[in-house]
Amino acid sequence: YELKIDENAASKGTYEFYMLKEICEQPSVLRHLDQYYLDQNGDPKVDAKIISALSKADRLYIFAAGTSYHAGLVGKQLFEKLTMIPTEVGFASEAGYHFPMMSKHPFFIFLSQSGETADSRVVLQQAIKRSIPSLTLTNVPNSTLAREANYAMSLEAGPEIAVASTKAYTAQVAVQAIVAKALGEKLGNKDATAFDLKENFALAAEGIEQVISSQSKIEQLAQKYIIPSRNAFYIGRGIDYPVALEAALKLKEVSYIQTEGFAAAELKHGTISLIEKGTPVIALINDPITSDLMRGNIQEVIARGANVITIVRKSLAKANDDLVLPEVNYYLSPLVSVVAAQLFAYFAAKDKGLDVDKPRNLAKSVTVE
Ligand code: AGP
Repeated sequence: YELKIDENAASKGTYEFYMLKEICEQPSVLRHLDQYYLDQNGDPKVDAKIISALSKADRLYIFAAGTSYHAGLVGKQLFEKLTMIPTEVGFASEAGYHFPMMSKHPFFIFLSQSGETADSRVVLQQAIKRSIPSLTLTNVPNSTLAREANYAMSLEAGPEIAVASTKAYTAQVAVQAIVAKALGEKLGNKDATAFDLKENFALAAEGIEQVISSQSKIEQLAQKYIIPSRNAFYIGRGIDYPVALEAALKLKEVSYIQTEGFAAAELKHGTISLIEKGTPVIALINDPITSDLMRGNIQEVIARGANVITIVRKSLAKANDDLVLPEVNYYLSPLVSVVAAQLFAYFAAKDKGLDVDKPRNLAKSVTVE
C-alpha cells in the first residue's frame, strides 16, 4: 500500500495549514502501518531480536515528553493487556534526575516523534550507563534516540511539520499495539493472539475518515462553545483519561485557551470549583465499564453551568450526544477519539486567526532541557 503522504513535506498542498493536512493523513498512515508491520494474516513483522529482548523484561518503562508521553499512557494499557508485563510511564524530564526504582529485568521504551528530545536523551544515557536494554519508536529513523538505543522502530508517519503533533501520536499508539501484540504472542498471551490488529486498524482508519467528515460540525461547536471561553476541560475515564490529557494539550498549545484534561470523577475532589456558567467541558465516552458513571459526572458539571460537548462511541451513545464515534477495539479507541480533539484544537486556533502550525513560544523539537 503506497503511503499516500505528500513526500514533498514542504508542500501544504490544498490545505491552509500543515496541522489539518497531517490530521487528514492519519487514515493513510494507519493503512501504511498495516502494510509495513503486519503480514497478510495480520501477524506483526517485528524484528525477532527486539521481541526476544523485550520478552526477558519483568517490567517495561516508557519515557517520553508531551504528546508522546500521552501516547505512552495508552501504550501502558496496551502492553499490560496484551503481555501482562507491568508497565510504567514516566516524564523523561523527571526520570533523568530522579531515576525510578528498577525491577530486576527492566526494559526502556522511548517514544519520540523527532528522536531528538533532550529530556529523553538524558534518560537514554542513564539506561546505557546501567546496561538497561532500550527500544526507541521514532518518526526519524536516523535520529539520536534511534541511533543510541539498542533497538529502534520507525513510526512511518511521514514528515510531521506542524508543531502540534497529531499523526505521530496515532502512529505511536499503533506501533505500540503492534509491539505489544508481537510480544504478547511470544509470551503465549491469548488476548494478544485474539487481538485483531488488521481489522482494527482498518476500522480505525475508516473511523478517522468519518470523524474528519464531521469537521464542519466540530468547527461550529468550537466557535459556539470553545472560542468564546478563556478555559476548557476534557474529561474521561479508563482509556479516555489519557486521551483527555492529549486533547487538552492540543487545544491549549495551538489556541492558547487554558485547558485541563481530567479523570472525570476527580473533578469533584476540588477542581469542579472552577466550573462556572459557560465553561466548556468536553466529555469522552468510550469505556463501557464507566459510561453510566461518566453520565453522572456530566450532570455534575452541567449543574454548575458547564456547556458540555459529548464525544461517544456508537454503542454507548444517546440521542442528544454531539459526536458519535464508530466502533473500534476499546484499546485502540484513542486512534479515533483523539481526532475529534485534534480538530477542535485546529478550528479553535484557526478561527481565532492564530498561526496554527507555529504556536507562540513553541518549537517542533525541544532539544534543550
Ligand atoms: C506536541 O503537540 C508537542 N509538539 C510536544 O509536546 C511534543 O510532543 C514533545 O515535545 C515531544 O516531542 P518528541 O515526540 O519529538 O520527543
